[in-house]
Amino acid sequence: MDKALRAAAQEYMVRYGGDVFPNLFKSAKGTIVIDDTGREILDFTSGQMCATIGHNHPAIINAVNEASKKAFHMFSGMIPEVVAQLAAKVATEWMPPSLTKSIFINTGSESNEVALRMAKMYTSGYEILAVGGSWHGVTGVASSVSFASDRKGYGVPPAGVFVLPEPNMYRPYIPELGSEQSALKSLEIGLKMFDMASTGRGAAIIIEPIISAGGVLIPPKSYMQALRKAADDRGMLLIYDEAQTAFGRIGKRTASDLFGIVPDIMTLSKTMGGGLPLAAVVTTPKIEQDIYEKGFSFYTSHVSDPLLATVGLAVLDTIKNESLIDKANVTGAYLRNKLLELQNKYDCIGDIRGEGLLFGVELVQDRKTRLAHHKLGELTTKKCFELGLSMNIRRRPERGSVWRIAPPLTVSNQEIERAIAILDKALEVSLKAI
Ligand SMILES: Cc1ncc(COP(=O)(O)O)c(C=O)c1O
Repeated sequence: MDKALRAAAQEYMVRYGGDVFPNLFKSAKGTIVIDDTGREILDFTSGQMCATIGHNHPAIINAVNEASKKAFHMFSGMIPEVVAQLAAKVATEWMPPSLTKSIFINTGSESNEVALRMAKMYTSGYEILAVGGSWHGVTGVASSVSFASDRKGYGVPPAGVFVLPEPNMYRPYIPELGSEQSALKSLEIGLKMFDMASTGRGAAIIIEPIISAGGVLIPPKSYMQALRKAADDRGMLLIYDEAQTAFGRIGKRTASDLFGIVPDIMTLSKTMGGGLPLAAVVTTPKIEQDIYEKGFSFYTSHVSDPLLATVGLAVLDTIKNESLIDKANVTGAYLRNKLLELQNKYDCIGDIRGEGLLFGVELVQDRKTRLAHHKLGELTTKKCFELGLSMNIRRRPERGSVWRIAPPLTVSNQEIERAIAILDKALEVSLKAI
């Protein structure tokens, strides 16, 4: 371990929030990250939910080499051949038939800025509805429609942002109605409130089809259908933020496939670049034509960069070549069973939910009251890291204490067994310590 480097990180870096480890990190490969003590840690968050094909996959390394022989970057008005290739692949192999027009940018936040600008220009409206617990990014409008956390202290958000009650099947807002009916009734009330407040200039409804930062909440299909209808009834566009759900993570091409509902705009990011900053926004030819005629612009330094498009093509091809969508389902079922075995052993595991290889595991003080067990969440996450497993905990007083588990789709059964053994030990030790 290089003490001077640890000290440099302390002295020279801005602390940017989130759960930051005391260690520094050296490298990553497949499901493993290696810290500055040389310790191997299982990465069950796929980096920041991006490295679905595993860290430093040979296909990504080849793609970077290939781009180095051609170009990393160009004038933003020059469309590199490889970007045209990626646009065609996304449209013809990954999207529902109506979504064919793409723009390629860098981050998830940026993708949602693009989508919301598109929606505002297309509808001539400005009002945006988002759901509780959402996370769409940290930039201007994306952060204003994010309700999971981090809203305080940054001044006045743009006018016209409204929040709808999110569907929480484990902790419904109206328990007497049962989970699904509660979700639908809460949405109905939320829309009524919006209609009262609206100036009549609605632009978009935006949702993560699986509300990840909000605790891996999976809406019922009827909620998604009701949102589609709510948007249509009001002349608003429906935007799916598929930063985490697209390209195999949930055992489907997209969450649009999972729910059988097609949004007007889809934003793609994390899972598209396999760890490099590639994002995209995909919409219909009708919307694209309309905003083009109105002068739509999102002209950034790194729009259509060839390096990232080359990597994106490699990521999408790897998902196909290695059958990673099927693997997400098969390995996901294996992991789910292992988690269910843990749930049989520990009363504090209240709920296990997920699709493919994206899971939320809810820790409770007791299964009846479903009161969140924040202390246990904190202790077990810490203990897991000590024992060699990195996992994310979502902690909000009003939402619960949820482990978010999302290993690369390439994870092996042996790695899952190792992770489960660590979770088991961490629970045992932490429960004794409380
Ligand atoms: C669903 C979702 N949308 C958008 C974002 C923002 O992406 P980025 O951090 O790349 O700007 C995130 C990041 O966590 C996310 O989970």
